[in-house]
Amino acid sequence: MRARRPLAAANWKMHLLRADAERYCAALRAGLPAAPAAEVVLFPSFPLLPPVAAALGGAPVAWGGQDLHAAEKGAHTGDVAGAQLADAGCTWVLCGHSERRRDHGEGDAAVAAKVAAAVRDGLQPLLCLGETREERHAGQTFAVLERQLREGLASRPERFAVAYEPVWAIGTGETATPELAAEAHAFLRGQLAALGFPAAAVRILYGGSVTPENAGELAAREEIDGFLVGGASLDPGRFLDIISRLGA
Ligand code: 13P
Repeated sequence: MRARRPLAAANWKMHLLRADAERYCAALRAGLPAAPAAEVVLFPSFPLLPPVAAALGGAPVAWGGQDLHAAEKGAHTGDVAGAQLADAGCTWVLCGHSERRRDHGEGDAAVAAKVAAAVRDGLQPLLCLGETREERHAGQTFAVLERQLREGLASRPERFAVAYEPVWAIGTGETATPELAAEAHAFLRGQLAALGFPAAAVRILYGGSVTPENAGELAAREEIDGFLVGGASLDPGRFLDIISRLGA
């Protein structure tokens, strides 16, 4: 019996068109048991949220935004407010994905503001963090994780999850070994406790080249509470396979 309900999250990134999303959701619905062991969440691009919501109504699947702006509303062309995501039925939002940190220069303070905004707007933040290859080679992994976690949670959210996504494992086919991932997760859980969060209840997901082939041995580690899946989540059959590795 797992200590925490596992969470299987699909980050579609900038992929799929409306018809693909509709076919995907139909396949996901058909393949999931009525009460899956894992909580299942999809993170589609913003224009796909309404068709995904329509296709998933009543299914045991939630959906969320890949990002949000920290402000409630205002003159921020191209950005999305948490209230708009909630209005589209989102219950989750990614904060601080490494592709946002890299492509949009989001630092820890910006990520912290997004986590706070998510909570304000009724969304559960999924705080993403992880070291780069250079940071790992320089022996800075734990310092980076400690800082990203502490600063990202500065607003002290009550309900949130964390995704450990080593940047060197994202989209590279180079998955962290179960030992290495478990070590980082155990470190993060220790830091959550040190910061005064109810660490035993917080889900820490692993992300970075998760596939049906490696999900089983990762999921076997009690420190790993689920997955944030990119590439392999674009195929509903492969995502269903990964979900099933988290419990029947
Ligand atoms: P990949 O599974 O494609 O490596 O992506 C991981 C990721 O960034 C999920 O957020």
